[in-house]
Amino acid sequence: MADLAGTAAALVAPGKGILAADESIGTMSARLTAAGAAPTRENRRAYRELLVTAPCLASAISGVILCDETFRQRLGDGRPFPAALAGLGLLTGIKVDAGAKPLPGAPGETVTEGLDGLAPRLAGYAELGAAFAKWRAVLRIGDGRPSRAAVRANAQALGRYAAACQQEGLVPVVEPEVLMDGPHSLAQCETVTALVLLEVMSELQDYGADLAGVVLKPNMAVPGSGCPEAAAPHQVAEATMAALGCVPATLAGVAFLSGGQPPERATRHLAALQGLPHVWPLTFSFGRALVDPALAAWRGDPACREAGQRALARRVALNAAALTGTYRDDLEREPALG
Ligand code: 13P
Repeated sequence: MADLAGTAAALVAPGKGILAADESIGTMSARLTAAGAAPTRENRRAYRELLVTAPCLASAISGVILCDETFRQRLGDGRPFPAALAGLGLLTGIKVDAGAKPLPGAPGETVTEGLDGLAPRLAGYAELGAAFAKWRAVLRIGDGRPSRAAVRANAQALGRYAAACQQEGLVPVVEPEVLMDGPHSLAQCETVTALVLLEVMSELQDYGADLAGVVLKPNMAVPGSGCPEAAAPHQVAEATMAALGCVPATLAGVAFLSGGQPPERATRHLAALQGLPHVWPLTFSFGRALVDPALAAWRGDPACREAGQRALARRVALNAAALTGTYRDDLEREPALG
């Protein structure tokens, strides 16, 4: 029997966060192109190898989420990614959803698909070394959205996914993301996030998920990217904690996504969140806020590989500082970090 609670506790261990490197082939290819690198299968592999082999990654990263392509690829030395991660002291995660698809009857909204055949797929990943999985639901704010239907459909899928993961011995990372896109206010994001989380918690309960073996990966409550009013880190932290008011203390932990926030801002917000009272372990499961500087430094150029790794190590160190209460703004200008 898999020790789900033990694995979940390891994912959110003090001072450690999760690296999300599971962009789909399409998203990763677009990001490579934007960074000036050719969007090839080999470049996607080399980039992920650069990330996971960054020196000392395991000192502040507990696990890495991969997409199916990377999961089945090998490092330059011939080891499959899951085996290499285990050797580096990192847990392997796998994104198992099939993406957000248009939700019939709810114009402009999506439901994340991938439930068909999920159990045998999960069993296969577990067999090949995965310890945890990820499923991302996407909700949008604006023009009456999110609708009841979109909130319910996505929460229900997350509940079914979580139950299936635990049945197959994998810890589910449950990711309901309320997007930052739009002119909405901080208060609107807080309200919608609270509503979405309440629905997700209720579905997890209905599907009998053991919360001690579940990691929640929510968005922070932030003003929309088109909102004219900025919010201070303490306001973001307070709104986010209020939105998470329904999340029981029995949950293994909360690992925030970055959602397109600039790296420094995401770290500042994480530090402010850590400074508030909370009843579950609290950490990060960032994608872009950890890896964007690394991709920009590497650009597909083998000569810049170490520069890419240093850029990742720097963001990891800064976010680890946020977790331990030692983050200060001037650390962002500290050249020796990373
Ligand atoms: P971001 O931190 O870039 O939002 O990515 C997290 C993630 O896993 C998205 O599914």
